[in-house]
Amino acid sequence: MKVCVTGAAGNIAHLFIPKLCNNEIFPNKKITLSLLDIDKEPQIKAMNGIKLELFDCNFPFLESVSVHTDPNEAFKDCDVVVFIGGFPRRPGMERKDLLAINGKIFTCQAQALKNAKENVKCLVVANPCNTNAKILYEKIKALGIKINKENITCLTRLDQNRAEGIYKEQSGKKANFFIWGNHSTSCVPDTFEDIAITEEFVKKVQQRGAEILNVKGTSSSFSAAKAIADHLRDWYLGSDKAVSMGVVSNGEYGVEKELVCSFPVKCRGEWKYEIVSDVNLKEEKKKMIA
Ligand code: LMR
Repeated sequence: MKVCVTGAAGNIAHLFIPKLCNNEIFPNKKITLSLLDIDKEPQIKAMNGIKLELFDCNFPFLESVSVHTDPNEAFKDCDVVVFIGGFPRRPGMERKDLLAINGKIFTCQAQALKNAKENVKCLVVANPCNTNAKILYEKIKALGIKINKENITCLTRLDQNRAEGIYKEQSGKKANFFIWGNHSTSCVPDTFEDIAITEEFVKKVQQRGAEILNVKGTSSSFSAAKAIADHLRDWYLGSDKAVSMGVVSNGEYGVEKELVCSFPVKCRGEWKYEIVSDVNLKEEKKKMIA
């Protein structure tokens, strides 16, 4: 399996790459890793350092590691691209404030996807991830690059994991949650279980990214890396419960067609998933999702 990680010199990639190479995501698969970051000395040095350390880890299924600054080369023959690269949020900013700068990255990188395999799976992490995934999708379509829209996704598993973690912390109980909408302060945590979700709980989940940013001074890192691993593993292997993925809408639940929106999805294995179709939404929830 050839996997490209963009933003490879950054914090999240640093925590995600060992999980990938240790086969925590794709068990027993040989991995060919492609690292991409910007053409600046610190990033190139960091990527070359990661390459050396990966050899020293002696991961049994890691076949090779290549370092790139050109997405055309980095994406060549890729089965999976994890788009982590982008400017991170600073305290006081909303994720949408990153659009002007990070959106451009996706316009450029979409063109390079012509070099990836036709069934390449894309996971957008860089914020605002829903909108960046939408840019990727629109650009691919405009360029006539043949990639199925089901293969373009963005990360809302972080919000799901947060909802589950916060619920456990507050109640001492485990429950499964999922996320509707955007990876932003308007995301809507929900559950199939018989649990009353309070306004306070929703706010806590919606604001968790900002809370971490304010407390640490930098964005989430290993929780993001864990969520990327969860998203990819479930997408590839399948999951027994519904999980959250930002996907291109076909108009489900009244969400405008071709918006990239988080839904509860059932992953069937071998990269197949479907949006759970029979959720009975109350008026209040519909308004929140809208
Ligand atoms: C998060 O939710 O932690 C990430 O999207 C980073 C951020 O800017 O909040």
